[in-house]
Amino acid sequence: MADQDKIVAGVAGKAEAKAPVIELRNVGKVFRTADRTDRAVLEGVNLTLREGEIVAMLGRSGSGKSTLLRIMAGLVPSDHGEVRFRGAPLAGAAEGIAMVFQSFALFPWLSVQQNVELGLEAQGVPKAERARRAEAAIELIGLSGFNSALPRELSGGMRQRVGIARALVTEPDLLLMDEAFSALDVLTGETLRDEMIDLWESGRANIRSILIVSHNIEEAVMMADRIVILSSDPGRVRAEVRVSFPRPRNRDDAQVRALIDEVYALMTSPAAMGPRMATLAAAQQIGFRLPNADISRMEGILDLLLEAPFLGRADLPHLAEEAGLTDDELLPACEALQLLHLATLERGDITATSLGRAYYAAEPAERKVLFGRQVLLHVALAAHIRRELEAAEDGEVGEEQVLRELEAFLKPEEAERVLAVAIAWGRYGEIYAYQYNSGMLTLPEAEEE
Ligand SMILES: Nc1ncnc2c1ncn2[C@@H]1O[C@H](COP(=O)(O)OP(=O)(O)O)[C@@H](O)[C@H]1O
Ligand SMILES: [Mg+2]
Repeated sequence: MADQDKIVAGVAGKAEAKAPVIELRNVGKVFRTADRTDRAVLEGVNLTLREGEIVAMLGRSGSGKSTLLRIMAGLVPSDHGEVRFRGAPLAGAAEGIAMVFQSFALFPWLSVQQNVELGLEAQGVPKAERARRAEAAIELIGLSGFNSALPRELSGGMRQRVGIARALVTEPDLLLMDEAFSALDVLTGETLRDEMIDLWESGRANIRSILIVSHNIEEAVMMADRIVILSSDPGRVRAEVRVSFPRPRNRDDAQVRALIDEVYALMTSPAAMGPRMATLAAAQQIGFRLPNADISRMEGILDLLLEAPFLGRADLPHLAEEAGLTDDELLPACEALQLLHLATLERGDITATSLGRAYYAAEPAERKVLFGRQVLLHVALAAHIRRELEAAEDGEVGEEQVLRELEAFLKPEEAERVLAVAIAWGRYGEIYAYQYNSGMLTLPEAEEE
């Protein structure tokens, strides 16, 4: 891996000397797309997990993380290269490898106990032993007393505990966790993550190594001994960062923060983004948290600002009073005006720009054109969507795809919120259209032919 950056934080861990649990050598995977062309999703992936190691894998949505995990679990074959588990070639699902999914993947009609026992049934463990071991795993993960509950009776965090217990019950040598915490609310996710670290440190779970796939940089830094970063198109290991701080780690510790920053920098460097993303100017900004401002409110504020008594300049509390808006209604709209260069904010004052004045004077049709132009210029996400649409052969892009890209930077709910803002602004400015029924973004009708 000559092209791989190596960043070493602190001294190298002892894990280097330990026996490999799983080894990937030059692993590649090709998928055939709908138009029957082959696309390399993974290429030349080399990765070894050794006993006693937690490795985190970061990478954008679509970089092939889940595919790689499925290959490591023996659920799908690779097209190139070799996977060795405990020294022997991996052929199909193996005892000793367990996986936890983001979606929990529980059987809704089975109780907690039955869901957990499933992992052992597949291995032919006798009934009495299954029951005993499942109970122990349920206790280990803090679900005692819920053995006979059904998944729908549990909160998301508890369901994921079941998912984890089902993996732990087999005492796997390799535990694969695919965004296991990202469907949970922040606090629940962090609690569960911290408990996993406790379990790991205590040795009670009897796991040899863990691979965590995540799109949360802090999570990776808090948990892992080593972080590998996958690039996209094709997915390959672009960088590796060793994290040798003792666990549990304090996220407010200056060294931990510095390392988190370093990983952010690596994640957003063009090299880590792969050839397709590298061409997108300032791609990291597509994750910019657009203010929650609807267009009629923005225009209303701009109109108010340019009329008497303000005539182009107002102090915000005064403007809020005049507009009859609360701060959390006014401020996002003002930020949006500033973002689009229609006004500037300084020391609690808002001032219309010359463009803002022109906008005020413009007819509705002209306003749309101006608005669209400013959105394209200053909202990286909107410009990104527009470029993707122009590049798409059929002139359409699914919102799901954009959402997945955003989720490399933002929590899922935040990604949805930001995308909704970008869609609303872009539609109004007629830089793209959006079909509510299908969730497809398209070029505006006037431009289609
Ligand atoms: N079964 C499949 N058939 C075709 N393409 C697939 C299949 N599974 C995944 N892909 C594609 O491979 C790429 C990587 O997907 P995935 O491994 O899920 O990425 P990640 O987990 O990093 O988001 C995506 O572009 C996805 O659309
Ligand atoms: Mg995935």
